[in-house]
Amino acid sequence: MIPSYRWLVEGSYPLVGTTSVSGGKNPALAVLAASLLCDDTCVIENVPDVDDIRVMLLLMRSIGAKATYAGADGRSIVVDPRGVNSDNPPAELARKIRASSYLMGALLGKLGQAEVAYPGGCDIGARTLDQHVKGFAALGACAKDQLGAVKLTSNGLRGAEIYMDVVTVGGTINLIIAAAKAEGTTLIFNAAKEPHVVEVANFLNSMGAVIKGAGTDVIRVKGVAKLHGSTYAIIPDQIVTGTIMIAAAATMGDVTIAGCIPTHMEALTAKLLESGVRVDYHDDTIRVRSNGAHRSITLKTQAYPGFPTDLQQPMTALLTTARGISVVTETIFESRFRQLGELARMGANITVDRNRAAITGVSSLHGAKITATDLRAGASLVIAALMAKGTTEICEPIHIDRGYENLTDKLNALGARITIQNADTMEEPA
Ligand code: EPU
Repeated sequence: MIPSYRWLVEGSYPLVGTTSVSGGKNPALAVLAASLLCDDTCVIENVPDVDDIRVMLLLMRSIGAKATYAGADGRSIVVDPRGVNSDNPPAELARKIRASSYLMGALLGKLGQAEVAYPGGCDIGARTLDQHVKGFAALGACAKDQLGAVKLTSNGLRGAEIYMDVVTVGGTINLIIAAAKAEGTTLIFNAAKEPHVVEVANFLNSMGAVIKGAGTDVIRVKGVAKLHGSTYAIIPDQIVTGTIMIAAAATMGDVTIAGCIPTHMEALTAKLLESGVRVDYHDDTIRVRSNGAHRSITLKTQAYPGFPTDLQQPMTALLTTARGISVVTETIFESRFRQLGELARMGANITVDRNRAAITGVSSLHGAKITATDLRAGASLVIAALMAKGTTEICEPIHIDRGYENLTDKLNALGARITIQNADTMEEPA
């Protein structure tokens, strides 16, 4: 099949200079869903301009909310959810992104009912919703499978004590949203601590919610009757920051990332330091420098503040040329090694045993024709292509555009050489 467009990356140019990061995709998706609970209008600022956000806006409008861009920067969205009149967003839209599942919590909290198709998003594992549904049931909802959708009904939600059997970011966020206007107090035990969990709590609190403990294992949500309007700016994207940090190191570059939150990057920074990369923090900037003599490391993904699964894939690209054997263990998603086969096509030496990959460093990668199977796999391949000798053709970069705002422009401004080819202008690379 001929892809609709592809990226051609001429490798071996170091990334050098200063760049900035957009607002976080995953925090913004959660905050937009939570904004549906507002009893007035709210303004969400610093929303990234990526495909997943556009799908979320379509979903919100499909159920009667107004969601319109305001201001010249194209980053602020005014949400007026007072017209929400449907509990059933179109399945074909809901299946496009994982964050559509947040409409379950939002509509349940707002209307007491919801019927939302099982979500889509990256194909990186089973990604069940059992903990979401278990939590909704504890809050008093009746949940049924309804032809590929979850149908939730209730006579109003009541606070409850919920113990999460697995640490789930989406589950924790969905339950915070559902509980924000429930009657009484909800306690969520074994909660996820990721920055976007904290972000949703901060946003809801800015509208008058009473949520404490976000960022710890136990979150307490005291339900309120009304949520007033608010203006709220989304935090910088932790995963975009990390991807650029890795790309800077992998290309033997020297990049300063402005407007980020260094404390969100501790796990990645520790591993970059271990592999011989220089990383300096200063207020809200991070500078990453490398001479390319990387050492092998061991790395295991974990819930925050552990090493994020979203940066495991980008990091494997850097490790393909690190001296020695690196061992990478993925503990969160069972199918998150799909980039490794593509890296092997570029000359990487990798063996995989279930959820563990052993990466033996090679002297260099070479260009190849490769396919981005999911968002962070795509980021991994871009980094590998920047490192490689020769030209790499990345097919299906559509996954990358779902989560990285203008990545090609951003990298080219730092010295990368990436061109976008549309199907009608495609020629075979020399
Ligand atoms: N899980 C369950 N039951 C549930 C929910 C999750 O068993 O009810 C399992 C999952 O199968 C997985 C683990 O728990 O093995 C963690 O899943 P989690 O719910 O934390 O992930 P998510 O909410 O589906 C979000 C991000 C992902 C990111 C993960 C982990 C969004 C929209 N997605 O997914 O982001 O990898 O948290 O940090 O916020 C990405 O941006 O590329 C991406 C995939």
